[in-house]
Amino acid sequence: MSRVAYVNGTYQPHGEAVVHVEDRGFQFADGVYEVWSVFDGRLADFDGHMTRLHRSLNELRIDIPMSVAALTRVLRETIRRNRVKNGIVYLQVTRGTARRDHPFPAPGTPPSVIVTAKSISPARGEAQAKKGVAVLTQPDIRWGRCDIKTVGLLPNILAKQAAREAGAYEAWFVDDMGLVTEGSSTNAWIVDEHGKLRTRDTQANILKGCTRTTLMTLIEEQGLELDERPFSVEDVKRAREAFFTAAGAFVTPAISIDGTKIGDGKPGPITLKLRRLYLERARREAI
Ligand code: PDD
Repeated sequence: MSRVAYVNGTYQPHGEAVVHVEDRGFQFADGVYEVWSVFDGRLADFDGHMTRLHRSLNELRIDIPMSVAALTRVLRETIRRNRVKNGIVYLQVTRGTARRDHPFPAPGTPPSVIVTAKSISPARGEAQAKKGVAVLTQPDIRWGRCDIKTVGLLPNILAKQAAREAGAYEAWFVDDMGLVTEGSSTNAWIVDEHGKLRTRDTQANILKGCTRTTLMTLIEEQGLELDERPFSVEDVKRAREAFFTAAGAFVTPAISIDGTKIGDGKPGPITLKLRRLYLERARREAI
């Protein structure tokens, strides 16, 4: 039986329904969703899901894509077109499509809306309920695996957006102990008050940046001392220099943190030298 999906205003054959490659849901997990149970073609716990949808959208500052009445029509029409009597209807709303960049896209960028529906046999659920099912415990790591370069970047984009709204370029995450972990899309470094280079070790829960790794080789070649150890926000405020690294950003000087000048408030000499060395090496060795 042919299935149908609603995508941004039109009903399309399920197998052909697509969102743009730069949809922020796909690029950053920058979206929210709801699932309603369907009984005899009718939506269960309607208000609860609709209220939570609005709350989720509001928390993430994603525009409400359409009125409750309009959305209800779309949900019902998707259920109808898929001939779902019993099953679920799935709704996803993302921050829309824009050139990949962590901060929010320009105001007015329309959110993406997709709706799908599928039938679930009540008999199967009943059989399961009769016997009961097993559960397995798992460590709650949601999402404690920042070492994996996953597209689940919602916290990162919220941090980047907060930085941009505060007139800063990058956000540096700080852990429970007041120690800097990494940037929202970069690795964080300082030249500490004693002139020693410092960046957090990657045993910790951060992404092992490729730019960071190449820079470490250059640092060694230069005979500079590197301490792979976490530093606090206070250490940054006392530091002589600070910078961050990433593909595209290379080595970018940070001149203030939370409004406090770092060093003399200008890009430092070690930072600029490392930037030059990194760019030379990267250009030469790019294949
Ligand atoms: N970001 N940490 C995070 C959270 C990152 O997203 C990135 C890169 C880095 C640096 O990794 P590398 O040096 O390998 O680029 C560290 C990319 C550039 C991005 O999301 O656009």
